[in-house]
Amino acid sequence: MSVAILPTRLRPADLLRITDQCASEVLDGRHDAMLPARWDPVHRWAARLRQDDDLDVWLISWTPGEATELHDHAGSIGALTVVSGSLAEYRWAGDGLRARTLDAGDQAAFPLGWVHDVVRNPDDTTTSGPTLSVHAYSPPLTAMNYYEVTGSGRSGPTHLRRVRTELTDQPE
Ligand SMILES: [Fe+2]
Repeated sequence: MSVAILPTRLRPADLLRITDQCASEVLDGRHDAMLPARWDPVHRWAARLRQDDDLDVWLISWTPGEATELHDHAGSIGALTVVSGSLAEYRWAGDGLRARTLDAGDQAAFPLGWVHDVVRNPDDTTTSGPTLSVHAYSPPLTAMNYYEVTGSGRSGPTHLRRVRTELTDQPE
């Protein structure tokens, strides 16, 4: 039996629990001091809620039409909890992209190799306030790889092609 060597002692379930806790803290107003007085309606905004050797936790405000590009989280696993509003996620499923909607209270975990694009849900017309989600990465995010889908349509099978890698600790 082979045992996978994971880059973190935390499991996806731990990150789901932590993002849930932090989402509750945001809703309870415990992070109000770091929130902007007015939410930028155009540009995505992110603030780090917590950081230690094992993980970092971010609060992200999503704006209409601002996608993240297809990316993975390099050597980090991740998880999110939607605080308010609604997100659309497009995940690479091996032969194309699969879409799903994540509404307030919904959670998602991102194992190693998870390639996705996230955007504020364009079909969500019910939310007047900010679209917020809490994300955790472990180990703390250091890099992301970006991808494009190639070969779709009549030109043959659909593939995923990595186009660049960026060293970054900013979440997407
Ligand atoms: Fe991501």
